[in-house]
Amino acid sequence: MGNKTSKTSKKSTPLPSTNTQEDSDFRYIEGRRYHNVENVKYPLPNDDEELDRLHQQHFLFRYVWQRNFAAPVKHILNQDGTKVLDVGCGAGSWIFEMASNYPNTQFTGLDISPIQPSEIKPKNVNFVISNVLNRLPFENDTFDYIFQRLLFLALPKDRWPDVINELTRVLKPGGYLELMEINPIPLQMGPVSSQLFIAVEKMLQLRDLDPQIPYKLRSYFEQQGNLENITEEKNRLPFGPETGKLGQAAVENARLGFVHLKTYLLEATKIISEEFDNNLDISAKELYEFGSYQDTYCVYARKGNY
Ligand SMILES: C[S@@+](CC[C@H](N)C(=O)[O-])C[C@H]1O[C@@H](n2cnc3c(N)ncnc32)[C@H](O)[C@@H]1O
Repeated sequence: MGNKTSKTSKKSTPLPSTNTQEDSDFRYIEGRRYHNVENVKYPLPNDDEELDRLHQQHFLFRYVWQRNFAAPVKHILNQDGTKVLDVGCGAGSWIFEMASNYPNTQFTGLDISPIQPSEIKPKNVNFVISNVLNRLPFENDTFDYIFQRLLFLALPKDRWPDVINELTRVLKPGGYLELMEINPIPLQMGPVSSQLFIAVEKMLQLRDLDPQIPYKLRSYFEQQGNLENITEEKNRLPFGPETGKLGQAAVENARLGFVHLKTYLLEATKIISEEFDNNLDISAKELYEFGSYQDTYCVYARKGNY
């Protein structure tokens, strides 16, 4: 619910951000820029090429779901002083759109890397650089709504319950938690795509990441014990021609994902670079022609008033 003690709108007061960049925030491998946080397994780079891919991915997801969020929070977002947290906010695609649509709400984007614009941003957005695998720098019961999307490459398999606990801790009683994930391994694939995605499976295994996470979110929410009205929604990100340009855009986004993960995918499978590039071109055609798709799940719930 909105913070009832905050009667005055904070619309004109820019929120402080902690996302100014330092050299030590990044490390560079083969010309690509990566995060520099010890013990964090997230393998994607965070340079301009990857941030562009994240923006494109945001538009794909918004199109597939026909909205930016699923939890019943629209009325909260229209109240003065409502506080929203976007965990693993990346380039800030979601938070910028939401902050423009809901100017009375205060949005905080949290990420391990200071990759979001620090100057040109809506006044009701601030960014905090922090690791969601640690205790978050917020008091108990701070946020009215917490959103987290696409962290399957970030959170080790056995840490999801801890993260859900920590997000629930900083959520206000009566507030909503919403997580959205995708199965990185498409279904209905052709032979070359199947081969190529074995590399993804191996990389996930080596990094202790969980491709099955979309299917487990609901039971993790149930196990948390303080979340109620748990709702799960499923959808598909289609690669095939049946959805017109959406399929082509999804194939292009997946292809870029492969290019950006190439160093780690080659490491995981020992296939040579030329074979990988060749298979990538064939796979892009196959994903479209076979009408492959990825399962995407969204789970949301309300924190009980205990
Ligand atoms: C695939 S991107 C998703 C970005 C955004 N949620 C979206 O949907 O557009 C994953 C983001 O999680 C961030 N990340 C990875 N590990 C993290 C961690 N342990 N704590 C906080 N953020 C993390 C990465 O830096 C990256 O920006």
